[in-house]
Amino acid sequence: MISFKLLSEAGHLPAINKGTGAWFGSKTLNVDIGQNTVLLLRSPDGSFGAAISSSDSANAYKQTLVHLIKTTVARFSREGFPAALMEAAIVGGADNARWKWDRMLEIVKNDFTNIKKFDEGGLYYRTIHFDPKSGLVTVARKQANPNDWNPASANLSLESGTKGFSEGHAGGVVANATRFFREKTSFTALREVVIPTHLAETPDEPFLFWSAACSAGAEAYSYAMYIHRLLTRAKATCPFKVFATDINQKLIEGAKNGEYKANKNDIKEYRAYFQRYGEISGETVRFGKEIRQFISFGTFDLKQRPRRKGFRMIVCANVFQYYDDEARTHFLENFISAVRRPGYIFVGPVRDPIIHALRLKKLAKYKMLMVE
Ligand SMILES: C[S@@+](CC[C@H](N)C(=O)[O-])C[C@H]1O[C@@H](n2cnc3c(N)ncnc32)[C@H](O)[C@@H]1O
Repeated sequence: MISFKLLSEAGHLPAINKGTGAWFGSKTLNVDIGQNTVLLLRSPDGSFGAAISSSDSANAYKQTLVHLIKTTVARFSREGFPAALMEAAIVGGADNARWKWDRMLEIVKNDFTNIKKFDEGGLYYRTIHFDPKSGLVTVARKQANPNDWNPASANLSLESGTKGFSEGHAGGVVANATRFFREKTSFTALREVVIPTHLAETPDEPFLFWSAACSAGAEAYSYAMYIHRLLTRAKATCPFKVFATDINQKLIEGAKNGEYKANKNDIKEYRAYFQRYGEISGETVRFGKEIRQFISFGTFDLKQRPRRKGFRMIVCANVFQYYDDEARTHFLENFISAVRRPGYIFVGPVRDPIIHALRLKKLAKYKMLMVE
């Protein structure tokens, strides 16, 4: 019978296998499952076992798993164990990759009955040892930093994604992690391309910037401070504004306060900015009136066509990975309708056929798209 043992958080298990695969054995299987979910299979006599896991994103996840399970069942069958006899357990899967747990259950529930379930949820990276002989699965886990988490893709549709995110989560994914000065190449692009272009082409026109899906607002303050600094240095005379929106009203209400708990590293790294545009007390950063006047916060669902136009740059970072291609295309069409040409759009992953169909130019160095 498959049973479960959790090591203390400091416990450590070396792992040999990692990523996507089906691993077989009669002796211990050592697998680094990260934040993924793993399916364990065992012959009733313990002579043979398998561990199946995939770090693929949603598009490929189901396909990969179905293939791996098929291969595994065939292998067990050759060893003399039909699927109906196998013992099965599902282990692991962090809260923010919850959809993997759900999808795996959905995929395997008809093949294996009486599936055991162990150590679901939490924000952990896990390594496991599975000993088919004794049936014991030993799990070691390490706390994960939610900001490090790359959800790969939740592949949500426009409807389910927007509905979920307005309530603060989608597809089981709690996804509003954000940080100060997060997407480094977007700041480089502002400095090297976007602001110089604006000042060369329309020096007297307002510089309008949209932080679309700004979460709790650290992003908006970061861009406002950076743009203010660049324009001041360039002795520019144009006014500027950062429009900062998110679908989640609670986040926007918090962002308007302009007060943040910053971690020690942020304070160390961005002290000059925080002191110039606000004040630091302990681990709290409070932004002052001067910078706040340049930011306009509001709730907005990216599904809607924006009424405001004339943005020189739109940043919609760490959002596209949650949505399917249709939703991504829809968001991009909305952004294209809202930029001043040449316009710059910084978003997450977009497939080349979409970029071509929308006649966008890729600026690979900055991971940015351009509307000519
Ligand atoms: C992971 S956070 C990214 C925040 C910030 N852009 C960053 O990179 O740090 C994703 C944000 O997207 C927002 N979001 C998701 N779907 C949205 C939509 N349809 N319209 C507006 N905001 C959306 C969520 O509410 C969440 O705050």
